[in-house]
Amino acid sequence: MSTLIIATNNQDKLKEIKHILEGTDIKILSASDYEDFPDVEETGVTLEENALLKARAVWGKYHLPCVADDTGLEVDCLDGEPGVYSSRYAGEDATYEDNCRKLLSVVAIEPADDRAARFRTVVAFIDSEGKSHTAEGKIEGEIIDEKRGDNGFGYDPVFLVPELGKTLAELPSEQKNKISHRHNALANILPVIKSRLA
Ligand code: IMP
Repeated sequence: MSTLIIATNNQDKLKEIKHILEGTDIKILSASDYEDFPDVEETGVTLEENALLKARAVWGKYHLPCVADDTGLEVDCLDGEPGVYSSRYAGEDATYEDNCRKLLSVVAIEPADDRAARFRTVVAFIDSEGKSHTAEGKIEGEIIDEKRGDNGFGYDPVFLVPELGKTLAELPSEQKNKISHRHNALANILPVIKSRLA
């Protein structure tokens, strides 16, 4: 059986990744299986750079195949902001609440018909030979005027999925996880992981 390290401490992400890898003969480890897991500063200026930074740090330490991801919310009327800075939009120690509040206030002064946005995830996978692979996934939507829903995390309450008429925070996690940017990125890298870990 092959081993794959998922470079995250986030149990929701881990669950999502385990779900998509179900049925494969891959043993999954994550940050919580190690005491000295590398804590990588996200100094890249693109999602791809940050995902690779995280994956390479893990590979450098354990020399085992690993997966890392980085996600950003891109709002068209803000020229793609907050993008790679999504987790720090309202400041270094900003909470999800702080970031949503800032986003709503900034978007409020833009024309009401210009609210298109997307979550974009880049997943980096390093195989057993140390070779890097990346894939991307996204979900299109709109930023609404006020928060709706209690599920999910981050910007979910302000991100409307127009086809469903609901924000990501109004969807049960199983439904979100089937359509999410992260799910789509993982689905896109899955064939590479399977072929490299077979
Ligand atoms: P990360 O790269 O997954 O840590 O994501 C960076 C930031 O993007 C997080 O701090 C969240 O604010 C936001 N984010 C990432 N994924 C999601 C999501 O699925 N829903 C809402 N916000 C997200």
